[in-house]
Amino acid sequence: MLEHLDRLPPDPILGVMAAFRADSDPRKVDLGVGVYRDDAGETPVMKAVREAERDVLARQTSKTYVAAVGNAGFNEAMERLVLGEGHAALASGRLRSIQAPGGCGALRLGAELILRADPHAVVHVSTPTWANHVPLLSNCGLRLQPYPYFDTATGGVAFEAMLGTLDRLPARSVVLLHASCHNPTGADLEDAQWRDLLGVVRRRSLLPFIDIAYQGLGRGVAEDAYGPRLFCAELPEVLIAVSCSKNFGLYRERTGALQVLSATPTAADAAISQLMRIARGLYSMPPDHGAAITHAILTGEGLRKSWASELDAMRLRIQRLRGAALQRLTVTCPHKDFGFLARQRGMFSYLGVDAAAVRELREQHHVYMMDDGRINIAGLRMENIEYFAEAVGKVLR
Ligand SMILES: Cc1ncc(COP(=O)(O)O)c(C=O)c1O
Repeated sequence: MLEHLDRLPPDPILGVMAAFRADSDPRKVDLGVGVYRDDAGETPVMKAVREAERDVLARQTSKTYVAAVGNAGFNEAMERLVLGEGHAALASGRLRSIQAPGGCGALRLGAELILRADPHAVVHVSTPTWANHVPLLSNCGLRLQPYPYFDTATGGVAFEAMLGTLDRLPARSVVLLHASCHNPTGADLEDAQWRDLLGVVRRRSLLPFIDIAYQGLGRGVAEDAYGPRLFCAELPEVLIAVSCSKNFGLYRERTGALQVLSATPTAADAAISQLMRIARGLYSMPPDHGAAITHAILTGEGLRKSWASELDAMRLRIQRLRGAALQRLTVTCPHKDFGFLARQRGMFSYLGVDAAAVRELREQHHVYMMDDGRINIAGLRMENIEYFAEAVGKVLR
């Protein structure tokens, strides 16, 4: 049977990673893969994670199954992290969570739930959106449609065009939104824009599906959750896919959750029962290790403080790199405006260069980025920003 299968091309990011690894030039710069890097170019285990991990292993007396929804303490702590202590939804009886294998697992669970609620539902995604949103949401049979989002002229959000499109959608359309640190553009909605968007979502009876994978890496933990907090305070139904990969550095532990706000407690019970059934048929139960670590961090006073200050340092490092890159590029490419680098948030930006320039940067200057010009700002280091800016200047001359 299997001999008739077509061979598929590898994921583009794997090609960039392999080419970078094979490059022996000591000046090489990796701005491809979307993981946080420190000043030494490493993606270290956070100190709070190391400590929590020791505690978890010391206390663990069994490896038996946890529960269909995963670690209940983790689910509750994540609800508080995303929505903030004292949020009305927490005590409403309308919020339910299921632990998921990473943000990807949460996105897929959400897609399957939407499909069961309405097999004809269409999910509207930003142009552009994170490439993996497409298979995660459509492989179960949901249809996807794009809405305008990124304004290439300003490096910001084409908000009028976005709102105009969403304001024409039929009721029960699903809108996928990035809470903060938009991947791949770095262009985020301002708070006032979230409020305007809320008006449209409410008027058109749309279902917001919010992906929050970078909480704390844009403006701050509370600020990066402005959208989900507002929507869960004001709307009857919201889906939120949460990832702990970046802000806890737990990538390979596959730690995340799907949070579902339903119109009534009865509807919330139905939704979580459906989600448990869906998860059972996909992977049965989520892995516990990352969730146990995250739970220990969020509920331990000292660990939480240590995690929060480490996360602050990561965010500030990204902001410093953005400022320094802008400063150097202004000198090496005086004819191009890179001001967007400082206005955008999180790890990603489009450098605004074409495929030929991306190739030249890779082949002539050992600077690796995605084919569409997406760069991971955290892949820069203070000592190679000058080299990077000069390479870009040469290519864009
Ligand atoms: C926009 C976005 N959503 C979700 C995720 C989920 O990642 P994970 O499944 O590793 O938690 C990522 C990771 O890169 C992402 O960029």
